[in-house]
Amino acid sequence: MHTPSKLLLENKAWSQDMIARQPNYFNELAKEQRPEFLWIGCADSRVPAETVVNAQPGEIFVHRNIANQVITTDFNCLSVLQYAISVLKVKHVIVCGHYGCGGVMAAMQPQSADLLIANKWLMHIKDIYRLHQDELESIDQSKKVNRLIELNIIEQVYRLAHTSIIQSAWKHGHKPTIHGWVYGLNDGLIDELIKLDHNTQINPIYRYAE
Ligand code: CO
Repeated sequence: MHTPSKLLLENKAWSQDMIARQPNYFNELAKEQRPEFLWIGCADSRVPAETVVNAQPGEIFVHRNIANQVITTDFNCLSVLQYAISVLKVKHVIVCGHYGCGGVMAAMQPQSADLLIANKWLMHIKDIYRLHQDELESIDQSKKVNRLIELNIIEQVYRLAHTSIIQSAWKHGHKPTIHGWVYGLNDGLIDELIKLDHNTQINPIYRYAE
């Protein structure tokens, strides 16, 4: 069992280990960050961004929340997106959800009184369910959750494409690619569900007219 003091001891050991391997490691890393990827993932402790793609510090700019959502009134996510696109100029934005996502499963249940705030966050996933209700209710119960998890990831990719930040970067900037990935808790593998680039046709109601 990890206690906070165990975590601090582990931190010290890790820092010493990195310096033993590369004496200048932290000096170099402290100079600047130039990540090529923005990762928008689920807060689930079992899907740590860097670990599952074997990345090093400095390689991925990370934003995580319950059920890897991009909500266009969420200034937290939008600020991360704007900074990643406009300043860091990441080449790829990855939305990585995962099978067995508790947030998506909870969104398929009635609202519970003891999780009022989280319920509101999950309301957007209920909307995705309703948007795809015919398909979801025609498939096997056991597959329904995983399909909604996939649809949720795909929806977040479209929501990114609908932001003025992405559309502006596609028009005038460095044309980042947006990926929708799903991670399997059972095998540790990632599949790509969708990929959008600057040639994507945006539905006129979402088009950013500058
Ligand atoms: Co999750």
